[in-house]
Amino acid sequence: MQELCEYVRFPSVSAQPEHKSDLLACAEWVREQCQRIGLEAQLCPTSGHPIVWARTPRSRSATRPHFLVYGHYDVQPADPLELWSSPPFEPRVENDLLRGRGASDNKGQHWAHLKAVEAWLATGTPLPCDLTFLIEGEEEVGSRSLVEFVKAHAAELKCDAIVISDNGIPSLKHPALTYALRGVAAIELEVHGPSSDLHSGIFGGCVDNPAMVLAQMLAQLRDRHGRITVPGFYDDVVPLTARERKQLARLPYRDAALRRLLGVRALFGERGYTSTEQRTARPTLEINGLTSGYQGPGSKTIIPAWARAKITCRLVPNQRPGTIQRLLVRHLRRLCPPTVRLKITGGHGAEPYLVSPDSPLAQAALRALRTAFKRQPVLMREGGSIPIVTELKKILHADSLLLGLALPDDNAHAPNEKFDLKCFRFGLQLGMHLWPELARAVQASPGGLRRSKRNA
Ligand code: BES
Ligand code: MN
Repeated sequence: MQELCEYVRFPSVSAQPEHKSDLLACAEWVREQCQRIGLEAQLCPTSGHPIVWARTPRSRSATRPHFLVYGHYDVQPADPLELWSSPPFEPRVENDLLRGRGASDNKGQHWAHLKAVEAWLATGTPLPCDLTFLIEGEEEVGSRSLVEFVKAHAAELKCDAIVISDNGIPSLKHPALTYALRGVAAIELEVHGPSSDLHSGIFGGCVDNPAMVLAQMLAQLRDRHGRITVPGFYDDVVPLTARERKQLARLPYRDAALRRLLGVRALFGERGYTSTEQRTARPTLEINGLTSGYQGPGSKTIIPAWARAKITCRLVPNQRPGTIQRLLVRHLRRLCPPTVRLKITGGHGAEPYLVSPDSPLAQAALRALRTAFKRQPVLMREGGSIPIVTELKKILHADSLLLGLALPDDNAHAPNEKFDLKCFRFGLQLGMHLWPELARAVQASPGGLRRSKRNA
């Protein structure tokens, strides 16, 4: 626990350039920890933040299955700082919860896997497979360097599956296999009006207001039934099947509880879908940031020179980030009046992911979950995105098993993030049972075995 606290103490905020050296220090610390528990560990520099690459000592057997374990040591920005009940990078354990930025997303979750492997090694228990840990520092900003890294080292990283705990479960009583993630398409827009802020009395009335223009453009992107109005937005969406809708409806989410958890007066979402479908299996468009003019104390009578917004869409199969970005840009350009200059910059993207929960490996993971949690696991989709998952599929042709350890009230990306230490202990248990189950599943399938031989 002390080690995990040490880990959370690094302010490894990948989005903020001033934290570059903190990311480096954090990565180096992870590498040392990996080495100390008996892994062969290297720090791999990239054009962004370094990647930690750590492997269990390799056996001479030619037929051992090989699994990757993915995690990220970077975290989201901690602000607004004043809303934290204790400082984000001074972790505390309290009531069996670890509090701090990154505790749940994602340091605590992959730490459980590392500690479980430490137990295998420290007790001299032979692992039934080879493991490679890839812990990156750019997940929260789109994983660009890791994509290049995986391409460059595809031969060494070739594996039977990837295990990821960077997602959630409905509750402590519901361990889950997540078989789908949403993708992301991000853009930023700037509306430029007068060459500087203007006196709103002297000039107001004869000149357009960038904040108003931006507000009016944004307001047209969604209708009052929660449908996105960007032409073509839904064209590639694969409709949910009746079978899947029935299955999603069985998940233990209740609207009243969700409403209370989120502190909203009422839930809101696309008409015709349940809240679970809306937040995991339907696409969205959200304003993530909106800035213009004066927001300090008192009033300041100006027409602001500019207004800015950050927007992301969450995507579902088979929407593509590039296509959605293009549709969005084209639509916004049409909506923009000729009185202002519109500047649009493309941001990061991630493709949506969907995999069969019926494969032998998925079934093996479900058995390990049941043993570790002593509960029957559920199948779910997640609304969040893990950009590397589809890239790993494309480059290594391997599926990801998403075995989350986070709870819905962990406050990921929000003030007062925490990680429930019960989840941490379940994660340790999972690390005991998962590898034998997965290794058996690979060895039982002729295709899997052949792949491992070629690997060696
Ligand atoms: N761990 C999350 C993603 C997540 C959260 C998946 C909950 C499933 C359930 C991850 O760290 C994250 O936040 N990813 C970003 C990626 C984006 C910046 C491309 C996200 O989803 O916003
Ligand atoms: Mn995150």
